[in-house]
Amino acid sequence: MRKTIIAGNWKMNKTHTEAAKTLKELAALVIDKENLGGVEVIIGAPFTALESAVRATEGTPIAIAAENMSEHASGAFTGEISATMLKELGVEYVILGHSERRAIYGETDATVNAKVKAALKAGLKPILCIGEQLEDRESGRTNEVNGTQLKGGLEGVTTEDMANVIVAYEPVWAIGTGVTATPEMAEETHAFVRSALVELYGNAVAEEVTIQYGGSMKPGNAPELLAQKNIDGGLIGGAALEADSFYGIIAAGK
Ligand code: PGA
Repeated sequence: MRKTIIAGNWKMNKTHTEAAKTLKELAALVIDKENLGGVEVIIGAPFTALESAVRATEGTPIAIAAENMSEHASGAFTGEISATMLKELGVEYVILGHSERRAIYGETDATVNAKVKAALKAGLKPILCIGEQLEDRESGRTNEVNGTQLKGGLEGVTTEDMANVIVAYEPVWAIGTGVTATPEMAEETHAFVRSALVELYGNAVAEEVTIQYGGSMKPGNAPELLAQKNIDGGLIGGAALEADSFYGIIAAGK
């Protein structure tokens, strides 16, 4: 049985005090594990808010993710943050290869792959983001682009490690735009991603991997998206900034 995992990605929003406030509100809605009916909840917060976020969610079922990290373990990398630093703080997950990191900061499949492996080595669980641009979709290259990013990101990742990897499919044209992929469109790509995982790791492993959808997911469209066979959760930006709307999506996953 694959897990349904609803994750927020706050991006460059919220100071550490704002983060703690929102997480207290969210914790009051989430209540406890039982109330979540098997849904797992993650919040991705900026580096400076991670310590407060971990503290604010102690004793709650909410796990904390970083939104990036270095591919290097330590050393002369001014301004970078390592997987071990995050792990020691109590961070459990890390969002890697987000389309904003790829487009604005030039991250390639090779960089993302190095980060995925560094995260796993340090005991952090990566959320590997993949997704096509609008022109890729319009020129019929959706599967090719997603397949390349998936295989590139997972190069050298073992079958055992896949138990700790989440894949997030985020069509770039749907991120922050208010335009969502229709549930059918999203499901088609999710099914493709699952088939690519079957090719890489075999059926049993691929069936267990949580594949999240991301891109303008909201309480209103979440039920239909999450009802699709291969959509096992969400990675949510805008609608994760407020506890109420994020909880609306969690409730849709129950
Ligand atoms: P959005 O962002 O929900 O605001 O579209 C999703 C993401 O970038 O992960």
